[in-house]
Amino acid sequence: MNQSTIIGIIGAGAMGSGIAQVAAQCGHQVIISDARQEALDQSKSALQTTMVKLVEKGKVTLEEATAIRSRITYNTSLAAFKPCGLVIEAIVENLEVKKKVIAEVESIVSDACVIASNTSSLSITAIAAACKKAERVIGIHFFNPAPLMPLVEIIPALQSDMGLMDDAKQLITSWKKTTVIAKDTPGFIVNRVARPFYGEALRIYEEGLADFATIDAAMRDLGFKMGPFELMDLIGNDVNYAVTESVFAAFYFDPRYKPSITQKRNVEAGWFGKKTERGFYNYTEGAAMPTPSNDAQLRSDIGKRILAMLINEAYEALHLNIASAEDLDIAMTKGVNYPKGLIAWGEEIGLANCADRMGSLYLTYQEDRYRCSLGLR
Ligand code: NAI
Repeated sequence: MNQSTIIGIIGAGAMGSGIAQVAAQCGHQVIISDARQEALDQSKSALQTTMVKLVEKGKVTLEEATAIRSRITYNTSLAAFKPCGLVIEAIVENLEVKKKVIAEVESIVSDACVIASNTSSLSITAIAAACKKAERVIGIHFFNPAPLMPLVEIIPALQSDMGLMDDAKQLITSWKKTTVIAKDTPGFIVNRVARPFYGEALRIYEEGLADFATIDAAMRDLGFKMGPFELMDLIGNDVNYAVTESVFAAFYFDPRYKPSITQKRNVEAGWFGKKTERGFYNYTEGAAMPTPSNDAQLRSDIGKRILAMLINEAYEALHLNIASAEDLDIAMTKGVNYPKGLIAWGEEIGLANCADRMGSLYLTYQEDRYRCSLGLR
């Protein structure tokens, strides 16, 4: 795969449109297909708006913007994918629908065409099983918004031709993205390792140890750009809760990934966060943001507890060969802007220290949720 490879994108939603823009900006001819003409029209006009903004900001010239737009064609029929060398699927997060569409794509494209899924929570192996040549299927997982987020997780299915990993890495790197390789397990790297950032913060709140503002401040004290509650409100509690639920179920209900009733209630109330002007915080005009506690000891204890859970999760992922230490750290710093990689952070604090923190949490709560990873011991 190289710059002359024609890229097919299935699904003209948020992700498909973003990935199409990235590929077109890097010189590829792109064909987007969506079952709904309105989605294609919307995608086309959103790209036009983005290009106008980029020209205004001096990021691209008018000629470049025109060229980028002319490289993307829109089509309701999958038959348009015939000349593609890579097709990336970014349709609705439903295994049966994805399998059906991917099998149809395979019947159209050449034998050499690579088929990828942008799924955030489904098994790449299960998706690949829909194809006759399952070895051509891989996961290429972008983050939202794709044109701005630097990280891309590349995931081999059990059946994948491993030679494709290098090809995909090379291509996506040429799209000015940073790639990491992740094992085909729930949440891949970022959506797995980041779970305690939200889950432990919610647990601390539920125990009445501190309010949202204080927990957020405790994590900012550690160098995180945003605290967990601000971030959940930004991502959307509906989206964040759905990811937690799906990771929890996919791990056979491991208590470490248990969703929170507090967040569920927000979802039920329609308090999704910033987009609905109400989440953990109130964003309506004139509403005051709560002030965090100045209790330095409390803030330090909260920060240490959430960080211990995060480092434990990262070392567990390393222990289970989900990704290399280097890729785990790249994923968390580039994918979710953590101030340091968690593997490096663990080394800095000392693995024995981290294990002690987990040990004392386990001693206090006597819950499997706080078990120390063998990777730390
Ligand atoms: P979206 O809902 O914005 O767009 C999905 C598009 O797929 C819609 O335009 C819909 O008309 C189209 N579609 C649905 N079924 C189709 C079919 N059978 N044939 C052709 N087109 C069909 O969804 P979004 O957010 O872009 O997500 C797409 C995929 O990317 C999902 O698998 C999601 O898990 C994944 N993803 C989403 C992220 C996010 O933050 N939104 C981040 C990373 C991955």
